[in-house]
Amino acid sequence: RSPVVTVVGSINADLSAVVQRHPSPGETLHGTGGEITPGGKGANQAVAAAKLGGTVRMVGAVGTDANSEPALLELRAAGVDLTAVDEVPGPTGLAIITVDAAGENTIIVVPGANGAMDAARVTAARAAVEGAAVVISQGEIPRDGIEAIPGLVPTDARFLLNPAPVLNLERSVVLAADPLVVNEHEAQLVADQFGIASSGATAACTALLTAGVRSIVLTLGADGAVVMEHGSDSVSIPAVTVTAVDTTGAGDAFIGALALKLADGDPLVDAARFAARVGAYAVTGRGAQTSYPSAGDDLPA
Ligand code: RIB
Ligand code: NA
Repeated sequence: RSPVVTVVGSINADLSAVVQRHPSPGETLHGTGGEITPGGKGANQAVAAAKLGGTVRMVGAVGTDANSEPALLELRAAGVDLTAVDEVPGPTGLAIITVDAAGENTIIVVPGANGAMDAARVTAARAAVEGAAVVISQGEIPRDGIEAIPGLVPTDARFLLNPAPVLNLERSVVLAADPLVVNEHEAQLVADQFGIASSGATAACTALLTAGVRSIVLTLGADGAVVMEHGSDSVSIPAVTVTAVDTTGAGDAFIGALALKLADGDPLVDAARFAARVGAYAVTGRGAQTSYPSAGDDLPA
């Protein structure tokens, strides 16, 4: 039995349309697609780790509508432990996604049941967090739910915080992250919340390390990533070049893979190199979870 990765986070049904270009306000365009596929940053990260062979537990909520089943499809298929996934009255989280010809997306998230993941519900799921080697969270559940996590994380485990979207989290929660995984925009926002003036994402991350964050993975999309650890030189992780079909959830595939390797005890830099290949693989297929690799699939180099 491999070390456990526990994800506390969102579960969505993704409704995607493929368009030549994104519509302007007031404009109607024709698209293709229209399927509902499983998504949500939390569920995506859980599925990514599980498909690659991880032992994964999910803490989250779905609604009582017809979208809950498609939302849970890949979590079930990948063998994720759903004991701590609650069903709450109302709709399942819904993401309305458009993907253009370049594979770039726009996403509107309607939280639905994810809004029920408050501090009380997260704390009630403590059994799923105990015994984990890595605990992951993102910004798609309520702020107090996220703030309840660090107190539940075992002392010998890592808390991987991906503040996407960025909420105004208590400083101590950000300082508990090891690593904090942010894109350039998120890095600057978190630094702003720390009252740190910085020009550029790299400077923002350097300042956050100085403020006490233990490690940061700064993701740069098609330009790779940078791993920054307290007391070490930063390491650039080169991009893995692929032709983009759909970037939706590629960042989540990166995080799930990163968590899996960290749970196995790999150093952060090695874990990030592997994660970059998994993220690149996900960019080459449609949808989020539907595009993630399984253990044994050939990853781009
Ligand atoms: O990160 C991609 C995810 O963001 C999608 O699956 C969608 O559900 C939104 O949460
Ligand atoms: Na994809």
